[in-house]
Order: sequence, then structure tokens, then C-alpha cells
Amino acid sequence: MDLRIEKARCLRGDISVPGDKSISHRAVMIGALAEGETVVENFLPGEDCLSTIGCFRKLGIEIEGPRGGVVRIAGRGLDGLREPVDILDAGNSGTTMRLSLGILAGQQFFSVITGDDSLRRRPMARVTGPLKKMGASIDGRKGGSCAPLSVRGGCIKAVSHVSPVASAQVKSAMLLAGLFADGQTSVTEPYRSRDHTELMLRYFGAVLGIEDKSVYINGRPRLTGKKLRVPGDISSAAFLLAAAALLPGSDLTVRGLGVNPTRSGIIEVLQMMGADIKIINPREDGGEPVADIRARYAGSLRGISIGGEIIPRLIDEIPVLAVAAAAAEGKTEIRDAAELKVKESDRIAAAARMLSGFGAVVAELDDGLMIRGGRALEGCFCDSQGDHRMAMAAAVAGLIAGGKTVVRGAECIDVSFPGFSELLKSVTVI
Ligand code: S3P
Repeated sequence: MDLRIEKARCLRGDISVPGDKSISHRAVMIGALAEGETVVENFLPGEDCLSTIGCFRKLGIEIEGPRGGVVRIAGRGLDGLREPVDILDAGNSGTTMRLSLGILAGQQFFSVITGDDSLRRRPMARVTGPLKKMGASIDGRKGGSCAPLSVRGGCIKAVSHVSPVASAQVKSAMLLAGLFADGQTSVTEPYRSRDHTELMLRYFGAVLGIEDKSVYINGRPRLTGKKLRVPGDISSAAFLLAAAALLPGSDLTVRGLGVNPTRSGIIEVLQMMGADIKIINPREDGGEPVADIRARYAGSLRGISIGGEIIPRLIDEIPVLAVAAAAAEGKTEIRDAAELKVKESDRIAAAARMLSGFGAVVAELDDGLMIRGGRALEGCFCDSQGDHRMAMAAAVAGLIAGGKTVVRGAECIDVSFPGFSELLKSVTVI
């Protein structure tokens, strides 16, 4: 599917975006391991989260919905999963695969998990390695580092894992496996990654400690089904908020967004670049911080240098940040972001290619991007290469570029943001 975008005058409106992808996945998984029913409102009906539902249905969990945004999970307790009779399919979703591997490692049965072309290329050893140390037998392509992966779990022992990468998927896989171990499992990361697993496990009754960059979880907790409302996905809203910060006359409010500090790095960076972004009406829901965010145009943005601890807090927003940098005055340098190479596509290469297509001056670095902003962008043809966030970043570039832009392969946007093009149209003033 082609998405056609024209240069916009501004973005105006008062909207909400679909539910958070990371939290929606975790609600299904943790709900499945809890005793009794879990009811999830504002569940993201994106393809990635539907893959998680599909996997847990195959593991014997009755799941109703999503219907009207609601998913009901009939949790069967820590020992309630059943051996799947067929291969589990994680589709395009790294979160589904890596977090499920943690849970499968704790099961006394055999399972196989696979995914689409992109997911089968992504590195899994960062998860399978430590899970093997906990006692699971895991095998797969490329010495057990690429899917399809087979798991024979059970008899998991608690370990202390020091992860070389700041990855919530690695951390979460270990914490979920740690649920099945006797004793305490710990994970330490170089920088703190998103902590939705920790917050949700606590909300469901697990005993868990967080100290600086380490998380500790006690094994064999009793998790109880809960009611929760998923906040709007800040990673989805970021495309619209960045566009509003870039287009003169814009004034856009997005309601009910998750503003967990481990996810809201993009807001801080856009503010540092000179954007007028305000967090209004902060509150809490289901253990997660929530607020409304208003973005108004306040003049040209300025280039910025970022790296280190903020990177995991905005890793998924770097494609749209790169677009903002191309339109900003001066140089932007993004470092310590080598993880971008192993996302749904190599996002360092993909962002450089996409921005060059629009006429921006951009260089690929080993661990990030260098962008010289200020050049007028010209609309162009770009291919999403099957990466949802690259497709939406290209659409934002198309809004600020002169002329017309075509984003080919835009159907992949449904992975995380179904309804993106309609919502964008509804707030765009041409
Ligand atoms: C996610 C963690 C991040 C992020 C991904 C979702 C999660 O990946 O990029 O989109 O839900 O835990 P890594 O853990 O690989 O950094």
C-alpha cells in the first residue's frame, strides 16, 4: 500500500492515540500467568500484540477480544500453560519472541517459536544465552541465536545476569523466567531500559526490587488477575508531536499518554531542541504514569548531541528524531545507538537512506547518525522496507518537505499504529 503525503501547513487537534505496544504485550503475558481474569482496556490491536495473543492462545490460554479495545484473559496461574501442538508465531514482533522465550524457559514442555523474515534475522542469543544458563535447553538456527527456536524448559535456577546491552526485552525475558525459579534472579544493565515489566509484575503481586540499574525478582510469586487500562503509546504519539513541533502554527494535544520516564526521552530531547511541549494533567493508571501532552510550534528547532543513558529512553523514536534533526538548524549527533542496527530494519542505514532521499545531509556512524540540518527537504518516493517506524518517520518528513511524498509498503504501520494515516489526515491542515 502506498501512503501519499503532501506538504502540510500545520497540525491542529485534540486527539488520543492507540494503546502502548510494550504494555499491551505484557498485559497478555502476565495476565496469562496470573490466577483469575485479567481485563485490559485500550489494548493496542496492532499486529504485534495480536501475535502475542495468538501465541498465548496456542499455550492454552482463553483470550477474548480485542473487542472495543477490551481484551479478557482467563489466567491459569504460574503453572497453567499447556504444551502447544503447533509452532508459535511471533510475526514481526521482537517483544513477543524474546519475552515469550523467558516464559517458555520456565515450562516443563517442548515448544518452537518463529517469526517473519525480519524477526528471523534478529539476534536472539542475547536472550537464549542467559536462559540456557538458567537451565533451559534452547536450540535454533545459527547455533541457537536465530529463530526458529526450540525450547525445552523447566527446572530453572535463579541467576544474576549482567547484560552487555540496555534492552528491556532481555531484562524482561530474564525476569519472566525468574518467576519460575526458586530464589532471587537479578538483571543488571549498562543503562536503565523501559521498566513496564517490573511495574506490571508488581501490580499483579510479584515481589521485585529496583536499585539503580539492577532489578531483583523473587521466584514463585502468586500473581492475581487484575483490571488495567493501557495508556496511549508515546512512541506512536511521537510522530505527531514531532510534526507539530516542526510546522509553523501547529497546536496539537494528545490525551492519556504513557509518560513513564524510561520512555519519555523524546519529549526531553524535543524540548532541548527548542520545541514547546507541555505535560499537562499528570496522573497514574495501573502503576504507570499518564498525562496529556500539548505540542505547539515555537520557531525552528536547534540541532543537538545525544548519547548515553537517554538512548534506551527514546530508542524507538530515533527515526522521527532524525527527521526533526534534518529540519532543525545546525548539526545533530546521535551516538551510543548501535542497537538501532538490530531493530525491525537496520535503522541507522534506513534513516540515512530515507533522509538522503529527501535531500538532507546525513552520515551513518558506527553507533548512530550525524545530521546537518537546515536544508529544505524535497518530497520523494521512499520504501518502508517493512519497518513500521521508518514508514511513519518518512510520512512526517513528507509533511515538512516541499511537494509530494509516496511511502511504499505503508501497510506495515499496522504493526504498531493501526489508523495512523486517518488520524494524521484528521489533524493535518493543508
Ligand atoms: C521493547 C523494547 C525495546 C524496543 C521495542 C520494544 C519492549 O527493544 O525497541 O520496540 O517492549 O520491551 P530492546 O529491548 O531490544 O531495546
